[in-house]
Amino acid sequence: MTTLTPVLTKRWGKANSWRLAEYQADGGYQAARKALTMEPQAIVDLVKAAGLRGRGGAGFPAGTKWSFLPKPDGGPRYLVVNADESEPGTCKDMPMLMADPHMLLEGMIITSWAIGCHHAFIYLRGEVVHVYRRLLRAIEEARAAGILGDHVLGTDYQLEITAHAGGGAYICGEETALLDSLEGKRGQPRLKPPFPAAEGLYARPTVINNVETISQVPPIILGGADWFGSMGTEKSHGFGIFSLSGHVQRPGQYEAPFGVTMRELIDMAGGIREGHKLKFWMPGGASTSMFTEEQLDLNLDYDNVIQAGSMLGTRALQVFDDTVCVVRVVSRWMEFYAHESCGKCTPCREGTAWLRDTLCRIEAGGGTPADMDVLGDIPASIGGCFCPLGAGAPLALNSSLKYFRDEYEEHIRLGRCPFDRAATTAFNGEVA
Ligand SMILES: Cc1cc2nc3c(=O)[nH]c(=O)nc-3n(C[C@H](O)[C@H](O)[C@H](O)COP(=O)(O)O)c2cc1C
Ligand code: SF4
Repeated sequence: MTTLTPVLTKRWGKANSWRLAEYQADGGYQAARKALTMEPQAIVDLVKAAGLRGRGGAGFPAGTKWSFLPKPDGGPRYLVVNADESEPGTCKDMPMLMADPHMLLEGMIITSWAIGCHHAFIYLRGEVVHVYRRLLRAIEEARAAGILGDHVLGTDYQLEITAHAGGGAYICGEETALLDSLEGKRGQPRLKPPFPAAEGLYARPTVINNVETISQVPPIILGGADWFGSMGTEKSHGFGIFSLSGHVQRPGQYEAPFGVTMRELIDMAGGIREGHKLKFWMPGGASTSMFTEEQLDLNLDYDNVIQAGSMLGTRALQVFDDTVCVVRVVSRWMEFYAHESCGKCTPCREGTAWLRDTLCRIEAGGGTPADMDVLGDIPASIGGCFCPLGAGAPLALNSSLKYFRDEYEEHIRLGRCPFDRAATTAFNGEVA
């Protein structure tokens, strides 16, 4: 039986957990003090040995990414923390920044030292003004205490951190669109190569990592690679925040080692809501393939979930019970993708719009049997786009057709949604 491993979430319940004094009283900035006595390469090697994989979706090894930077040439090198968090269902980075912003700042100091960066950035989704304020305040406190600035923690190392609030576009979470947006341009993905490690922010070597990835660095410095590797699975070391939302009794953030199963997580969350049973669930946000009861005992790590036909993504585990109309859910997500497609590639721009229109027509009862062919054909033509948004947009649709094709056909046959809307929406208190 897997148990929770609160490390990132350990301080969340404490009064004023976000204040510098409270963070330091709990041992905060000890890891940075230690790291600043280490050789930068030793930190990269330690993070590599720990097997920390990026927590922003793709699971790329963090230490390996850092080691891709070219040798220092005297010019600037940047760390950019990705705090855009716009994937539907994903909700771990914002609570982390609200409850424990200094943990991220400490991780940023250590990572910046390791890669030779003197100016690091946090790119935050613009709508979350309360999080922006909290970050600004934390940076201000750290600067006033000499934790940032010309003499980081009393050393000769110099580091500034800038928090930047973006305009609130999903595509600006894609790392190269983020860089363009941070440079003041319209946020659209760049052609790769060159990769950001070689030419990133202002065409200089840049590391981009997720909030949770960088927040894991201080505990690794203090705990060591063996401690981190003692949790998780063979290829997905450590722990992560699993965000359960939807039709469970206690939705929330469950920090657990990789390899935990969805059955265990649902049990920890008090089970499916009373009187209902699980219909389907998403393992990693809306841009992944859905699972059903069949995969409840799958050990959740990056590789197992790929082998089972989906992706662990951001561990945004959305749970849907038997009152839910799958056509309705997939239509809402497709509306999101059609709205958020940046428009650079024709297949993504046009394909997501066609799928949205077709799905909404079926949902509203105006679909025809020919619409089922459209739903089957268009997804294949959205592949080969500039960035993964295009390829990810139809995954939920494709998997829903695999498990619930009859539900689409029933909408078309009846000329209406067969679900009782009041029952579907009552749980969230929405008006049907
Ligand atoms: C459309 C799109 C949106 C993304 N949004 C985010 C995001 O909000 N946060 C994030 O960390 N990564 C996001 N990513 C992944 C980033 O491109 C990048 O892989 C990640 O920030 C790297 O950090 P990591 O190695 O620590 O996971 C997104 C990717 C795509 C294609
Ligand atoms: S795949 Fe879509 S979001 Fe990505 S660059 Fe092309 S049009 Fe823009």
